[in-house]
Amino acid sequence: VKNIVLVGFMGTGKSAVSAEIAHLRGMECIESDEEVVRRAGMSIPEIFAAHGEAYFRDLESEVLRELSGRREVVISTGGGAVLRDGNVAALRSGGLVVCLDAGAEEIYARTRTCTNRPLLQVEDPLGRIRELLAARRPHYERACVEPGFFIATEGRTPREVAGEILTRLPW
Ligand code: S3P
Repeated sequence: VKNIVLVGFMGTGKSAVSAEIAHLRGMECIESDEEVVRRAGMSIPEIFAAHGEAYFRDLESEVLRELSGRREVVISTGGGAVLRDGNVAALRSGGLVVCLDAGAEEIYARTRTCTNRPLLQVEDPLGRIRELLAARRPHYERACVEPGFFIATEGRTPREVAGEILTRLPW
């Protein structure tokens, strides 16, 4: 059995859904962002402020490559994990990649009170979400081509989304 890897935009519920899958299946759940924070010894906003986004992406790639070598774990990635082809190749080699989906307004509603996402700390977060979603769409599509798949999350609980993912596993 391979890993179950969740990708998707910020606020699509990757952390909550991966925790549910791990719980339902008795699997270990690993958050790539948490691993990055542990290694850097600082929070994500602090990493972006002190070293810039490129440094964060390098650390993220290192963590994703290592996590892809694990077996039978649920991996919850950061929203930008799909931006590098090498990350996607590593994640797909170790597991099934599932992309969580939601629309811009829903993502805005879910993330608006959170200050832990440097990319959304701008004057017009909804506009930024729309731009980033459009720019990243092709990356998410490439990451979850078969046997992976997209799954809609709007109006559904993490438990429901997790349950559907488990019924669609190809193994
Ligand atoms: C990012 C998403 C964040 C985190 C960082 C960058 C992105 O993770 O990795 O702030 O580029 O979309 P979440 O998707 O868990 O918010």
